[in-house]
Amino acid sequence: MNTKITGTGSFLPEKIVTNFDMEKLVDTQDAWIRERTGIASRHISTGETVSSIAAKAAKEALLMAGKQPGEVEMIIVATCSPEMLLPCCACQVQSILGCSNAVAFDLNAACSGFLFALNAATAYIKTGLYKNALVIGAEVLSKIVDWTDRSTCVLFGDGAGAAFLEATEEENIGMLSLSQGSDGARGMVLACEDRDVVNPFTEKKEQILPGYVTMNGQEVYKFAVRQVPASILDALNKANLTVEEIDHFVLHQANIRIIEAVAKRLKVPMDKFPTNLERVGNMSSATIPVLLDEINRAGKLKKGDKLVMSGFGAGLTYGAGVYIWG
Ligand code: COA
Repeated sequence: MNTKITGTGSFLPEKIVTNFDMEKLVDTQDAWIRERTGIASRHISTGETVSSIAAKAAKEALLMAGKQPGEVEMIIVATCSPEMLLPCCACQVQSILGCSNAVAFDLNAACSGFLFALNAATAYIKTGLYKNALVIGAEVLSKIVDWTDRSTCVLFGDGAGAAFLEATEEENIGMLSLSQGSDGARGMVLACEDRDVVNPFTEKKEQILPGYVTMNGQEVYKFAVRQVPASILDALNKANLTVEEIDHFVLHQANIRIIEAVAKRLKVPMDKFPTNLERVGNMSSATIPVLLDEINRAGKLKKGDKLVMSGFGAGLTYGAGVYIWG
C-alpha cells in the first residue's frame, strides 16, 4: 500500500506587511532583513484564526482531489499557534468543513509539524487503518510574536497549507523514506511559554500572561545548517537515492541563507530549491504545504518527480522525507 497526494491547497491572509512597514514598528531596515533572511514581506492576520485559515486551505485541497467533506477519514492539523487549547484545531476544521466521518487531532512539532503530520498520516494509511487523510499546516504566529523584538518579529508570517493524502495501489509513488529526530535538551533556544501553573494549591497566586516567542537566532541557524543536510542524506540513503536524482527540494522556509547553506553542503544548484519566503516569511508548519501547493498549481510537479521535503524548528525537531509525486 502506498500513499499519494491528490490535492493541495493554501490560504494567506490578505494583509501584506512589507519590510518598510516593519521599519515603522521597530529599529530595522529593509536591507538588513533582506540580506540576513531573504524576506521582503509577509502576510499577517487581521482577525483570521488558525482554524479559519486551515479550513480554507483544506477546502482547496479537497476541491483539487475531487472529494466531499464526508469522505475524509482523518484530519491532522500541525500548528503551534492554535486559538484554543480545547477543542483542537483539527476538530474545529472538521466542524467548519463538515467532515463528520473523520477522526481529527492536532500535532505540534513547530516548523517540522507538517512533515511529521504527513509522516503520521502515511503510517496510518500504510497500515490500512484509514484510506485517506487531510494534512494541514496552519499558523497565526503574529499573535505570539513580540512586535517590539526586532530580532524575531521581522521573521514570521501567517498562513495555511494543506495536502489530501490517499491510499493507492500504484507502485513507486508516495513517501519512499523518512528521517525524523528531536533534541528536547536544546529546546529553549526557540521557545514560547503558555500559562504558568497557578491554582489554589500553588504558592504563586497571580497568573502571568502567556509569553512571546524568544529565540537564540545563531544557535537555531547553526542547528539548521548542520541537521537539515544530515536528515536529507539519511532519508536519501534509506531510499537508495542520491542528491543528483532529486528534482525538487521543498524545504522549510525560514531563511534564504539556511537554504543556500544546505544547497551548498549537498552540492545541489539553488534552482532545485523552490522558495517563497521572500513574499511570505517563516510561517512555521505552514511553509512546506504552502510552497508545495504553489509549485503544484504552477504545474512544476510532474508524475514521477522526486521530491525531498525537509523541516526543522522548535523542539528542537527536524526531519526529511523522500516523496515520489504521482
Ligand atoms: N534589524 C536590524 N538589526 C537587527 C535586527 C533587525 N531586524 N535583528 C537583530 N539585529 C541586530 C542585532 O541586535 C545585532 O546588533 P549588535 O551587533 O549591535 O548586537 C546585529 O543585528 C547582529 O545580530 P545577530 O543575531 O548576530 O544577527 P545574525 O546574523 O545571526 O542574524 C537572524 C539574525 C535571526 C536573521 C539569524 O540568526 C537567523 O536567521 N537565525 C535562524 C533563525 C530561524 O530561522 N528561526 C526559525 C527557525 S524555524
